[in-house]
Amino acid sequence: MLRLFEPTEISGMTIKNRFVRSATWVGMAAGNGACTPKLVDTIVMLAKGGVGLIISGHAYVQKQGQAGPWQLGIYEDRLVPGLRGMTDAVHEHGGKIIAQLAHSGLFADPALTGHAPLAPSAIAGVTRHTVREMTLQTIRNLVQAFGLAAERAQEAGFDGVQLHSAHGYLLSQFLSPFFNRRADRYGGSLENRVRIHIEILEAIRSRVGGLYPVLIKINTRDFVGGGLEVEDSIRAGQLLQQRGVDAIELSGGTVLSGKLSPIRSQIRNEGDEAYFRDYAVAFKNRVNLPIMLVGGVRSFDVAGQIVNNGIADYISMSRPFIREPDLVKRWESGDRTKAACISCNNCLVEARTGKGVYCVTKGGR
Ligand SMILES: Cc1cc2nc3c(=O)[nH]c(=O)nc-3n(C[C@H](O)[C@H](O)[C@H](O)COP(=O)(O)O)c2cc1C
Repeated sequence: MLRLFEPTEISGMTIKNRFVRSATWVGMAAGNGACTPKLVDTIVMLAKGGVGLIISGHAYVQKQGQAGPWQLGIYEDRLVPGLRGMTDAVHEHGGKIIAQLAHSGLFADPALTGHAPLAPSAIAGVTRHTVREMTLQTIRNLVQAFGLAAERAQEAGFDGVQLHSAHGYLLSQFLSPFFNRRADRYGGSLENRVRIHIEILEAIRSRVGGLYPVLIKINTRDFVGGGLEVEDSIRAGQLLQQRGVDAIELSGGTVLSGKLSPIRSQIRNEGDEAYFRDYAVAFKNRVNLPIMLVGGVRSFDVAGQIVNNGIADYISMSRPFIREPDLVKRWESGDRTKAACISCNNCLVEARTGKGVYCVTKGGR
């Protein structure tokens, strides 16, 4: 079991244990995406609570990529000093933090962005908004925007970046044959659907250098008819490995996936936990990169088995840390009872009211 608490390294970044706080939008940024003292306090609680690596909430790299209210932004240089406050505070408490870089594509909210959502293909019926298919120029602009955002992250003191290519957001839309119906070099074959990722990686590397951790979160499966399936996801992982990605976080599902969403409810027993575990096994056999497994891990024993059996290298969690930011410390101190989170998902519902994400079941706000 002790392997969970052993330090590891990813491309020069030392992580003190194998626990990762998966990217979590907490609805505490300012209206323009700037970091706030409340957001810093929330993130610092995780560092104090022993989380080895914190991944920020998805931060939009272009204004038109904003998905939700009070979401963190990284689309302009003037946001850097605020972000520096967050990274300094985490480092003071011995933590590591990386920025999740994102664009929500089809699921951007025009009420917030003032633009029609951009997507690989203008498929109808998924959102109630009119969607615009990305031109080659808007793709070029997006690639540059990710590169610039990574440079800002580095300047702001983040220990690395993670590309958000999961859950049906823009990069995940490119990978998915359901969302991506393009007939040009960005659509069709897997090599074409992963092309934008490779171009973004190149843009990022040209700005941050070769030794800066660049991670990616991807879907193992979309759980949508005609969507991304695991074989293509693994092949994408192999191509990304060849192009210099440093670690992969495995997730799955989209907002269209019903019960098989990325954020599944009703995790009642150990059998329900780690719901992408089988896909991680398949990945581990064929992709030679550190693997972070997210989705429903609640028990110390399950976490230990995953790491000890070589299924994944890191245990990534979101909701358990909303309820117990000090969960890792608790487990490390010897209290190994499972996470108190009951996966009711009320944290998500309440956050839309502007109070920020908190555990509604536990109460307190
Ligand atoms: C309130 C909330 C906000 C989330 N925000 C993000 C996000 O910004 N980026 C992301 O990749 N996933 C996000 N997720 C998904 C989580 O990172 C994670 O993949 C999912 O909750 C499953 O893990 P869990 O069972 O440990 O909660 C969010 C989940 C929750 C509950």
